[in-house]
Amino acid sequence: MALAAETKRIVAQFEYSDADVNIGVKEFLRQIDEGLEKSGTSMSQIPTYVTAVPNGTEKGLYLAVDLGGTNLRVCSVRLNGDNSFNLTYSKAAVPKSLMVAKTAKELFQFIAQHIDSFIKEHHYDHYEHHVRRRETMSNPEGYRDEHIFRLGFTFSFPVQQVGINKGFLIRWTKGFDIPDAIGKDVCALLQEEIDILHLPVKVAALVNDTVGTLMARSYTSPGKTGALLGAIFGTGTNGAYIEKLSNIKKPLEGEYDTSTGEMVLNTEWGSFDNQLNVLPNTTFDIKLDSESVNPGIQMFEKRVSGMFLGEILRIVLVSLLQDKSVQLFHDDNSSHNDWKSTTTIAPESGIFKKWGLDSAIMSVAALDNTPDLGTLRQELDSQLDVYSPSMEDAQAFKAIASAIGRRAARLSAVAVGAIVLQSGKLTDPAQGDEPIDIGVDGSLVEHYPHFRTMIYDALKAIDGIGEVGAERIRIGIAKDGSGVGAALIALVAASMEKKQPTAEESLKQVRSEALLQNSGRQLSAVNEVPEQTTPNNEEAIDA
Ligand code: GLC
Repeated sequence: MALAAETKRIVAQFEYSDADVNIGVKEFLRQIDEGLEKSGTSMSQIPTYVTAVPNGTEKGLYLAVDLGGTNLRVCSVRLNGDNSFNLTYSKAAVPKSLMVAKTAKELFQFIAQHIDSFIKEHHYDHYEHHVRRRETMSNPEGYRDEHIFRLGFTFSFPVQQVGINKGFLIRWTKGFDIPDAIGKDVCALLQEEIDILHLPVKVAALVNDTVGTLMARSYTSPGKTGALLGAIFGTGTNGAYIEKLSNIKKPLEGEYDTSTGEMVLNTEWGSFDNQLNVLPNTTFDIKLDSESVNPGIQMFEKRVSGMFLGEILRIVLVSLLQDKSVQLFHDDNSSHNDWKSTTTIAPESGIFKKWGLDSAIMSVAALDNTPDLGTLRQELDSQLDVYSPSMEDAQAFKAIASAIGRRAARLSAVAVGAIVLQSGKLTDPAQGDEPIDIGVDGSLVEHYPHFRTMIYDALKAIDGIGEVGAERIRIGIAKDGSGVGAALIALVAASMEKKQPTAEESLKQVRSEALLQNSGRQLSAVNEVPEQTTPNNEEAIDA
């Protein structure tokens, strides 16, 4: 009984009502504006210098590297020009020691080594071709630029971007902490390590995963208008959307194309409301934040993203376990347990370890609607060393986990809804009947049961959206945004290189073309920059 009552009390603390959603949206819109006015605000609103989204006709072969959380991914992406692509990829876990390495060099060396093995395994011909040419040419610089892979670097941390392939790290998030890297240009750090290994790779574009998701969604989803927003609900959470240049009041330092009148902004909404004007703040949220590597920062993310939801739940469970009157994971004797056993929790259970509760079990809890919650109970046993959990234990676990998940989804709707309202698209005649398209990616939105449905429910409650507006919002998964999207931005970057060659670059170009003709060799498959510079493609993506 005590457990049921206590569970109810805790669940109520995670309620996030329709009224709360609306208050959240209002504040979100205010902080959007603040970030458009000046730098150094809690929601950074970082200009990306990407001024258009693709339309699916782009072509070419590009490399992409994605560093954003627990895994490093290296991939090559062939854009087929018909809204489709082919992707080859390899994945490696980022060792914990490198997430908090002494120097940035250690981390970037690791990335370069993975690019090295990827190219040798999947594009050996090209690699060998490059090496042969490097060895035989008297002036390698003369052909070099033509023969290298353009690489889109998806680096999913807050970066002050000053150009399409230049950006300075503002701060680490998601458990990374390498102070030495702060303030450095992450593209230069990577290029340096690539060059040490003599790889035929140029870091052509710096991409946040949300920007990649937005690009990938626009490439793959047919429609007259491109996507408005790319959002990640995974280990972290963030969104990038298209803003009118006229609304961006703070100075834009880098070069960019003004013809579309728009630019993609990386909101870094993980830091929405760090000052806690409106975010819910339970004692459990407070504890999580105070024990994190970055207290007071990423306060929205700490309530929404997969990395933190399991930890919030764990902190709640620990508090319940500390209260002996509640009797969580404890029976007086076997007659109180419908499995006719007594519940015990092993001292080595993940529940007693910081970060020891993987958010994935929250999905199992949300999905298990069997009368005796058998699946969840088995999972508690196998994942968290809770032996013979009782029905009441599982009910409490499910109720609390679901309340945390639901609050996360409704908070997510605050961000999505605010961006939709900011765009003005719901009332824009130019939008016509076209849906307002949003590309999403990340473990939470992909695997947490009904996450999108819960977002839609909250969207309907937002003033200015309502049921009718919510129906016009199309939220679709954009898988591999960080690979395909990075490739697309590398393509933009490559066409920018093409468009405005310096005198030196033009000379190099002429020289390399002459050399290629002399050698009688075919252009290698990777040398596909010209393929996408048809007028259409240029118009679509770079105009
Ligand atoms: C964190 C990062 C952000 C990224 C997001 C999703 O919030 O700061 O750059 O987009 O995680 O991976």
